[in-house]
Amino acid sequence: MRNKDFISIHDLTVEEVYQIFELTKEMKANPQKFSKSLEGKILALIFEKPSLRTRVSFEVGIRQLGGDAIYLAPSDIQMGKRESVYDVGKTLERMVDGIMIRTFGHDIVLELAKAVRIPVINGLTDLLHPCQAMADYFTILEKKGDFKNLKVVFVGDGNNVCHSLMFGAAKLGVNFWAATPKGYEPKKEIYELAIEDAKQTGAKINITNNPEEAVKDADVVYTDVWASMGQESEAEIRKKIFQPYQVNKKLFSLAKPDALFMHCLPAHRGEEVTNDVIDSSNSVVFDEAENRLHVQKAIMYELMKNQ
Ligand code: CP
Ligand code: NVA
Repeated sequence: MRNKDFISIHDLTVEEVYQIFELTKEMKANPQKFSKSLEGKILALIFEKPSLRTRVSFEVGIRQLGGDAIYLAPSDIQMGKRESVYDVGKTLERMVDGIMIRTFGHDIVLELAKAVRIPVINGLTDLLHPCQAMADYFTILEKKGDFKNLKVVFVGDGNNVCHSLMFGAAKLGVNFWAATPKGYEPKKEIYELAIEDAKQTGAKINITNNPEEAVKDADVVYTDVWASMGQESEAEIRKKIFQPYQVNKKLFSLAKPDALFMHCLPAHRGEEVTNDVIDSSNSVVFDEAENRLHVQKAIMYELMKNQ
C-alpha cells in the first residue's frame, strides 16, 4: 500500500482495496502460511471507548502473524489530558511497530498519524470505521461472489459505520443507499468525497429519509445502534426519532428474498433490529465479526511488514 497508515477507505486506490481482499482470502484459507510474517512486531492498541470485536480481532490477529499486542485502556494513557497526542505518539514509536487507535475525534487519529513514522490504524472514530467496512464488503464478496449490480442499504444513523460503508461502495462500484431520519444524514463532506470516487467506478450514492424506498429490492440491509458510543445521554430521544427505521420483518421483507442482513455489532436487539431478523438465516452478523480478524491481518501485514 502507498500510505503509511490505514485511516479511511477513501485514502485507498480501488486496486489497493482489492489487494487487501485478495490477501484476506489467502490468509483466511491458509493462516499457517503467515504465522511468522510479522514475527517480533508489536502493535499498541489505544482504546478510548469500549470494544469486544476490535480488541479481540487485533490481539488475536497480530499473534496469529507471529507478533504481539499491548492493550492500553482509556484510563491508562488519557491522551490529550495526561499528555499530548504528539507526546504519546513520539513515545510509542520508540518502542512499538504500529498503533491501532479507537477514539472520539477523527482529528486525533490524523494528528497521531502525522506525528509518528510507524503505521497508525483507525479502529473507529466518531467519523469513520474503516476496518469494519472492509470486513463487511469482504463478507458481501464471500456471500454474493462480486459487487456487480448490488444494492447495499444502510438504515439508521448516518455516522461512522455508514460513512465508511459509503466510501467502500464508492470504491467498489456499489449502488449504495443511506436511509436516515432528518438531521441524521451522512456528513456532506463525506458524501461529496464518495461522489468523487464514484465517478471512477460508476457507484451510485443515494440518501433518503424513506426507509421503505431504500430497502426495496435491496441485496444487503445494514443497520447500527441508534446511539453510538459517546451519545449515551441521547439514547431516549433517539429511540423515538429512529423507531420508523427499525429493521424488523416488515421492513426487511421489502428487500430481495436472499438479501443479507448485516450489523457491525454490538446490537441493541429490539431497537434498531428485531430478533426475527438478526437471528434469521439471512443474517451474516457473526461472519462479519469473524472477518474483522482476517481483513485486519491483511491490513496489518501490508502496513507493518517493512517496519
Ligand atoms: N463492531 C465493532 O467495532 O465492535 P466493538 O465495538 O466491539 O469493537
Ligand atoms: N456507531 C457505533 C459503532 C460501533 C461499532 C458506535 O460508534 O458506537
